[in-house]
Amino acid sequence: MRVLITGAAGFIGMHTALRLLRDGHEVTGLDGFTPYYEPALKRARFKRLTEHASFAGHELMLEDAAALKHLAREARPEIVIHLAAQAGVRYSLDEPASYIGSNIVGTFNLLEALRAFPARHLMLASTSSVYGSNTPPFRESDRADHPLSIYAATKKAAEDLAHSYAHLFSQPVTLMRFFTVYGTWYRPDMALFKFTKAILAGEPIDVYNGGRMRRDFTHIDDVVESLARLTGQTPAPGGDGCSPRAPCRVVNIAGGAPVALDDYIAAIEAAAGHKAIRRELPMQAGDMTDTAANTDLLRRLTGFTPRAPIEPGVRGFVEWYRGHYGV
Ligand SMILES: NC(=O)c1ccc[n+]([C@@H]2O[C@H](COP(=O)([O-])OP(=O)(O)OC[C@H]3O[C@@H](n4cnc5c(N)ncnc54)[C@H](O)[C@@H]3O)[C@@H](O)[C@H]2O)c1
Repeated sequence: MRVLITGAAGFIGMHTALRLLRDGHEVTGLDGFTPYYEPALKRARFKRLTEHASFAGHELMLEDAAALKHLAREARPEIVIHLAAQAGVRYSLDEPASYIGSNIVGTFNLLEALRAFPARHLMLASTSSVYGSNTPPFRESDRADHPLSIYAATKKAAEDLAHSYAHLFSQPVTLMRFFTVYGTWYRPDMALFKFTKAILAGEPIDVYNGGRMRRDFTHIDDVVESLARLTGQTPAPGGDGCSPRAPCRVVNIAGGAPVALDDYIAAIEAAAGHKAIRRELPMQAGDMTDTAANTDLLRRLTGFTPRAPIEPGVRGFVEWYRGHYGV
């Protein structure tokens, strides 16, 4: 199959592209190499993809509507996995404009390109953050219209835009709500990365709200397996969380076993072989205390239940970090 992955130099993008290439698909990957975190890490991920003969890489921003349409015409993807976005809850308080540009304008430009050159299935990355102040566990059929952060608001806007294109132009869409994904080649802005870096350097870690938070952590291998299985699950009209006419569905992609932040820190300490020096800070604006997903739909659609335990996943990341950064 011909697959287009946006954000292919990103954490989830690289792992997804590698899996689909291994499965024998032709992958076109685009990325704008935005400066939100080390572009060198994105370049290193992208380089791994360019080593495959069936990979075609393009450096471009989603905001460039003409270039995006040109790419859709040339690549004619059957499956589009839309991962490129300005991610991160906390940064969205400092740089909201980059979220509007990448997540709303960028998604709109992609939808317009696919209106001209339709794909069999558009899979769009959304986030558990859209559930806002709902009470966990979150179900796809729950209302998700009280975002607590600008990041969540832009991801919900992207979901809504995609839904309207599904309804109006019959573009099949799966809206994938990811829950704190982690693994090797991770993002430097995420807690596991920051904590590992600080603990190995003997520096303090910032712990918000006394560590009294729970996250439904999802290992990258489980995400990639879910994505690979979902590519063939083109939604019919009237899927969960969508209008009766729209070939659309919302799917939670989550580990399904929430972990307390303190246990996560303990797993990092065990893997790093050092105790953390904690700097206690109040709860951050826009953060959610608990995330937990109901993953029944994912299991029903794919026959797969993510269940990677936290300790080996954290250990794998710490080993990768030591090797990649030589510490
Ligand atoms: N990692 C998680 O825990 C998590 C959780 C929930 C949702 N998500 C969503 O999953 C997707 C992938 O996340 P990730 O962790 O791989 O993030 P990432 O930042 O590593 O990857 C995103 C990639 O998109 C690129 N990009 C950003 N804006 C762009 C633009 N305007 N044009 C072109 N390229 C652009 C970046 O350069 C980056 O390489 C994102 O949509 C994110 O919001 C991730």
